[in-house]
Amino acid sequence: MKILLIGNGGREHAIAWRLSQSHHQPQLYFAQGNPGMQELGQRLDIDVTDLQGLLLFAQKEQIDLTVVGPELPLSMGLADLFHEYGLKVFGPVQAGAQIEFSKAFAKKLMLDNGIPTAQYRFCEREADALATLNEFSAPFVIKEDGLAAGKGVTIAETQAQAEAAIAAAFQKNMPVVIEEFMHGQELSVLAFCDGKTVLPCIAAQDYKKAGEGNTGPNTGGMGAYAPVPLATDELMARIQSTVLEPTVQALQAQGITYQGILYAGLMITPDGTPKVVEFNARFGDPETQVVLPLLADDLVDLMLATVNQTLHDYAPTGLRFQPDTTAVTVVLTAAGYPGDYPKGQPITFPQYLETDTLIFHAGTKVLPDQRKVTHGGRVINVTGLGQTLEEARQRAYAVVQQIQFEGKTFRRDIAAQPALALLHKP
Ligand code: AMP
Ligand code: GLY
Repeated sequence: MKILLIGNGGREHAIAWRLSQSHHQPQLYFAQGNPGMQELGQRLDIDVTDLQGLLLFAQKEQIDLTVVGPELPLSMGLADLFHEYGLKVFGPVQAGAQIEFSKAFAKKLMLDNGIPTAQYRFCEREADALATLNEFSAPFVIKEDGLAAGKGVTIAETQAQAEAAIAAAFQKNMPVVIEEFMHGQELSVLAFCDGKTVLPCIAAQDYKKAGEGNTGPNTGGMGAYAPVPLATDELMARIQSTVLEPTVQALQAQGITYQGILYAGLMITPDGTPKVVEFNARFGDPETQVVLPLLADDLVDLMLATVNQTLHDYAPTGLRFQPDTTAVTVVLTAAGYPGDYPKGQPITFPQYLETDTLIFHAGTKVLPDQRKVTHGGRVINVTGLGQTLEEARQRAYAVVQQIQFEGKTFRRDIAAQPALALLHKP
């Protein structure tokens, strides 16, 4: 079996690693992948946005399954194009990916179908947006309507900050969504969907703020852990029946068969109600780096069941995860991230990897002389597994200490206080 995986971050390294363990023993191709994935398959010089190039390669090599990591190719219609040519793709069609790249589409879908989320107003003109602020109170939530990799949201403590965020969005010609601020704890649920059946993974929590104690700017994610004690069976059942299933059904009612991962970013409000913060049309990063290491089912089988619409075969038991095991991932970033940061700093890795730890590359590059250097904001993810959260955490941080590069930056409090982890702080 030949699988083409699109993307090059820590998420894709984790997906590649898990695919490589399948009983199908797939031959893996990566567009473009990263240096950490080199030993798992063949890296190709095709950009994730080069849809024609990807299609030609998949046809020429008779690829059996294409797995899409990032949202960008999905938002450009990669799945639609591949379907046209009879190729199998794990990832939704463009109309389905709107759930991520159009906040307006996602919000309307939720409102029309009674799916719980924050009150909101969609504003296409700056003057409207400024006037609309009066309908809300601080903290104001201002979201740019477009793909933003988790960075297009401003939580403004004051009216002046909110006005500045609105001005910044319209300077880029981005309409905005203004939202009610939701209090509570965040939870990420990644669910496999074949258009009919929805099967959630264990929940994860993602640390989005750059600084310890959840301070500083939003990032793509500084660390994560799973499973989450807050996500009881009862809460997961409620998420399934009030969020995941109605969303996939509402899409289907519009003629959109949603196949791939539906990522629900949720706020669990103080009374225990799950409300949607955002949807994504793909695996989360860095949630994938804690969820996939715990997945007990074969990932290739699951992805094939998703594209072949046979996920209901798994429904009686649900997806299976390693019992009594917790995973923690810590993201090592370049100094300055999420702002400007240097590239090209040499990285040294531990000679031996301790058991129950995993290193996933994110923003790295190999030089012609084989040295590995930093090449992105999020550079490396270290995942630790353990019987307890504390054990998993200690294993991850032990390896974090063994990886060196100039400017290495990370949060020391990932999974330290899970109950308080994601409460918003200005
Ligand atoms: P998003 O890109 O929509 O996931 O937003 C990024 C982050 O901003 C979320 O993970 C939350 O921490 C925060 N956020 C977004 N919307 C809200 C909201 N309505 N209430 C509170 N926090 C929010
Ligand atoms: N961890 C947040 C995201 O993948 O969007």
